[in-house]
Amino acid sequence: MASDLSPNPASDATTVDRVQLERRTTKVLAEDDLPEIDHRAQIDDLIVGAGWAPFHRAAHQAHLDRDDLPSILPWRFYMLDAGACRRLRAFLLERGDVTKIPKMLATADAMIQVTWLPNPSTEPVSGLFKADLANMEHIAAASAAVQNLLLAATARGIANYWSSGGALRSPELFEKLGIPASEILLGSIFFFPQTADRDDVEVRHTKLRDQRGPIEHWARWVDVDG
Ligand SMILES: Cc1cc2nc3c(=O)[nH]c(=O)nc-3n(C[C@H](O)[C@H](O)[C@H](O)COP(=O)(O)O)c2cc1C
Repeated sequence: MASDLSPNPASDATTVDRVQLERRTTKVLAEDDLPEIDHRAQIDDLIVGAGWAPFHRAAHQAHLDRDDLPSILPWRFYMLDAGACRRLRAFLLERGDVTKIPKMLATADAMIQVTWLPNPSTEPVSGLFKADLANMEHIAAASAAVQNLLLAATARGIANYWSSGGALRSPELFEKLGIPASEILLGSIFFFPQTADRDDVEVRHTKLRDQRGPIEHWARWVDVDG
């Protein structure tokens, strides 16, 4: 079996390992809009790779009866280019949003609303969705797609950030972006331009990143008595 793990000349394992390590949360904030540069083609490339994430179950039929986005995949991606980000920022500012979200929509080259598709429940549920194995696996699959996306962005030198969404989770925003209310936001994924040469932006990372602890604190080999 060891041969299964030996280096494959057709794949660059070192590159994959490095990109995993390099991926980090990066937020780029500004008070004023940055120029709108069209990166749709590049973002489309990232999306293709994200779509190869594993998924265990088809989305419930209730999510498939639509003309657009009829896939059985348990996630949906709604992509906003730089122009759409700036217009969404203006919309949020008009509503008095003073959070970081409008400041990031001022700089983002793109933002993707990633949703997952919960199985509808026949019984009343407390909380966002019925907490069963099928829904857990839908979330897991959608999360794998997001990680694919972040790694693909990192490999291309695109700074990225997985946000819980804040105001972008609201029913009003879903309606504005044409996202069905039956879907649940897994994250708002921001892609930012290189801004090293600008002094009118603020770049932030997170404190949790360096608090993972050593591998021995979260992984161990398991013995089985034979
Ligand atoms: C599901 C999910 C939601 C997240 N939401 C937020 C968020 O709303 N705000 C934030 O600052 N970071 C958010 N993060 C990013 C984490 O804070 C970040 O991954 C963590 O601090 C580790 O840092 P690193 O990504 O640089 O390794 C989120 C991450 C995940 C997986």
